[in-house]
Amino acid sequence: MNYQTTLEYAKAEDANDQLAYLRNQFHIPKDKNGNNWLYFTGNSLGLQPKNTQKYIQQELDDWANYGVEGHFEAKNPWLSYHEFLTENMAKIVGAKPLEVVVMNTLTTNLHLLMVSFYQPTKAKYKIVIESDAFPSDRYAVQSQLKFHGVDVADGLIEWSPRAGEELLNIEDLETIVAEQGDEIALLLIGGLNYYTGQYLDIKKIAEIGHAKNCMVGIDLAHGAGNISPELHDSGVDFAAWCTYKYLNAGPGSLGGLFVHEKHAHNKDLPRFSGWWNHNKETRFNMRQPFDVMPGAEGWQLSNPPILSMAAIKASLDMFAEVGMEALREKSEKLTGYFEYLINEMDSDDIKIITPSNPKERGCQLSLQVKNADKRLHQKLTENNIITDWREPDVIRCAPVPMYNSFEDVYRMVNVLQTLL
Ligand SMILES: Cc1ncc(COP(=O)(O)O)c(C=O)c1O
Repeated sequence: MNYQTTLEYAKAEDANDQLAYLRNQFHIPKDKNGNNWLYFTGNSLGLQPKNTQKYIQQELDDWANYGVEGHFEAKNPWLSYHEFLTENMAKIVGAKPLEVVVMNTLTTNLHLLMVSFYQPTKAKYKIVIESDAFPSDRYAVQSQLKFHGVDVADGLIEWSPRAGEELLNIEDLETIVAEQGDEIALLLIGGLNYYTGQYLDIKKIAEIGHAKNCMVGIDLAHGAGNISPELHDSGVDFAAWCTYKYLNAGPGSLGGLFVHEKHAHNKDLPRFSGWWNHNKETRFNMRQPFDVMPGAEGWQLSNPPILSMAAIKASLDMFAEVGMEALREKSEKLTGYFEYLINEMDSDDIKIITPSNPKERGCQLSLQVKNADKRLHQKLTENNIITDWREPDVIRCAPVPMYNSFEDVYRMVNVLQTLL
């Protein structure tokens, strides 16, 4: 890339950007004086598409007009509403529609998946996570171990970066599994690490785990809508993610769940059930013996919250229009530009800990701040630059290809340089 340090260059890139029009389709938050924020926290909560209100209003209107009949009469009948989301969601994560469903929230889904895919025996009962796994994943795994009567200190294996390094090395996972694989039941790994922004080779992780008959699950909270994980081809057994980050579906919005096709018709898998994973043809006969649905839908429990799903539909329709390929292409360029400008600054006070290979990261760069000086983050915020601080010493900053511009990135680094 022939990146340049000038504002003119950033403006020219925006003028040539085929996706620049998308920015206008989002609400960009403003400060008290009406100035746009430079919003770099799509890794935490994505911005609101302007269409979301319309999608939710449609369901409110149908509820007002039809009451319970909305299950059949609504413009998008509620009975099968979740099915409107499946195909587009499957495309985003590289899965077959049979393998994907939208339901519940991320941690809930991880638990439901572990009910099925963490079946410890006396000999094979350990779970591997990354040493800096997102706390909710760690707590979920610890509670699963305890639920099955496994001592956490014995049953939890942590895959850590090497001494003095921040990033994980896949060879170390190979060593862990080679040495302890006979005792390991499950690898549950964050595919794109929330802290470092490192995107791991999930296909390789699946191969490593499966070579020793371990189940492999991936948390894609920071991956969905950011990178293209090709879940089906990766061969992982299951995955779960949220929709409030790069999928722009609103705070606390529902999660996505993937179960690989190879498990789609296995009715013997242990699982929790409710009426919504019962065969939809006979669901309302109410007295049938339980008959589980094939595929990811076979993990549903309850009839879904339509208002929340409407926000997801608004977002997924945008993703379907643009496609992950075009988004990813812009994203690599935009984050590459961000990295270039930071490197050109040549400051001793910050260090990028995210991998520099675009194939090993999404849009986020994690800036490690010397002496963990949190004031830098505060000052950025005072300057209308919204990033987030993660203990102990990182500012996470995610230029999102749907709504961030090259000029945003230029201005952000410009302010950063002045502050430093
Ligand atoms: C990697 C990861 N796992 C789990 C969670 C928790 O998600 P939820 O509150 O939707 O269960 C998050 C939330 O940001 C996350 O980033």
